[in-house]
Amino acid sequence: MKFFIDTANLDQIKEAQDLGVLDGVTTNPSLMAKEGITGRENILQHYKDICEIVDGDVSAEVVATDFDGIVKEGKELAELHPQIVVKVPMIKEGIKAIRYFSENDIRTNCTLVFSAGQALLAAKAGATYVSPFLGRLDDISTDGLQLIADIRLIYDNYGFETQILAASIRHTMHVVNCAKLGADVMTGPLSSIDGLLKHPLTDSGLEKFLQDAKSFQ
Ligand code: G3P
Repeated sequence: MKFFIDTANLDQIKEAQDLGVLDGVTTNPSLMAKEGITGRENILQHYKDICEIVDGDVSAEVVATDFDGIVKEGKELAELHPQIVVKVPMIKEGIKAIRYFSENDIRTNCTLVFSAGQALLAAKAGATYVSPFLGRLDDISTDGLQLIADIRLIYDNYGFETQILAASIRHTMHVVNCAKLGADVMTGPLSSIDGLLKHPLTDSGLEKFLQDAKSFQ
């Protein structure tokens, strides 16, 4: 399972990279705005800065919603750095653009996916990644994990190579349950990765080991 961090915060990206388990980064316009990154040139430079920190894929989202605009913007993003994956919304024009990108060797991440039918369409169009937002489904009392399971079943039934990128992860149990369900990738905040380290028995066990080791000295 690949671990992506879902942020545009360079310090958090560096911290996750330093842990040695980071496989990539996902961003979206809201995450860029949260970091105060505005203006086209600054945004493009920020994507390049992220690519310099991590070794893996970096999703950069288009904001155009028409086919020509998505293609133009996506090409500009893809040319920034070989690690860039063009993030395209799950709309009709987006699906057409994903097909175009797929035929032109530009990798894509189909975002804002909330149903198995949408995920099937993204795979048919040739998306590299599909991003079901499980946290946002849970937020409205719907079973986000069931969507991950449904997409896994459908993709395995037909051998689709589109990778399931479980997005909108909120906490460590989302990560663990997505791993059990066979999601290819998870993207979440730094806390969802750091939280995997924690167990009170680890802390108390280590404390006892260190206490007893004092007798060796
Ligand atoms: O980047 C897409 C997705 O992960 C957004 O998550 O937390 O805004 O629902 P969230």
